[in-house]
Amino acid sequence: MILIMLGAPGTGKGTVAGILSKKLGIPQVSTGDIFRKNISEKTELGKLAESYISKGALVPDDVTVKLVEDRLNQEDAQAGVILDGFPRTTAQAEALDKILENINKKVDMTINLTTPEEEIIERIVNRRICPKCKSVYNLVLNPTKKEGICDKCGAELTARADDNEETIKSRLETYFEQTSPLVNYYEEKGKLFSATVSKTINKMGVDVANDVLKKLEGE
Ligand code: AP5
Repeated sequence: MILIMLGAPGTGKGTVAGILSKKLGIPQVSTGDIFRKNISEKTELGKLAESYISKGALVPDDVTVKLVEDRLNQEDAQAGVILDGFPRTTAQAEALDKILENINKKVDMTINLTTPEEEIIERIVNRRICPKCKSVYNLVLNPTKKEGICDKCGAELTARADDNEETIKSRLETYFEQTSPLVNYYEEKGKLFSATVSKTINKMGVDVANDVLKKLEGE
């Protein structure tokens, strides 16, 4: 099964993908996480990715497509994956279609998350992540029991380098210019499932994940 998480920064793609990954038993493949791991390990890919990510721009398509193609060929991806943050351009979406065609797979569903823009910035500046087990928290909306410490593994939480207000604005611009056309791309293919994820109507992505599971079961 191939699922795609689409949506502006901070809409909760990673949160919903994490829930779905556990429920469906298939890996969450976050291109952002792969780039951040390479940045922390100071690899060549990491140095290249950092020069784009720090400005809120996209890493070039050829680099990103190759990365995802290699990941899809790995053993644990054979039953399916949840692509979190890929594709992000029309060129990436077209490349993905070709890659999947070559391995006799197809996109089963694209989950498009929307969140009121004023909420997005509040969410991102308050996001904290666990560098060890990758759990995502929010200082306001989803705080840990003990301040600054991961509930699940006890590691000290950190903030992402690109989670500052200036970079968030560029990331949003990049999303609207380069990624939002993919909503139509997948809608025209009849693969789109859209959900509004707002703190007022949603329990940290659990409702959305449950709706997706029902839809996949054909309910
Ligand atoms: P990436 O890591 O993919 O970041 P992003 O798209 O900017 O998305 P975020 O991770 O910020 O947010 P999210 O939607 O996952 O939300 P989350 O669940 O964390 O990419 C980073 C960078 O890498 C890009 O800018 C680009 O440079 C590069 N890159 C990545 N992929 C690329 C590609 N394909 N091509 C080229 N470049 C690429 O939630 C956010 C916060 O809200 C959290 O604090 C969470 O606790 C809270 N929250 C979540 N759900 C809810 C809810 N329902 N109610 C209230 N709060 C909630």
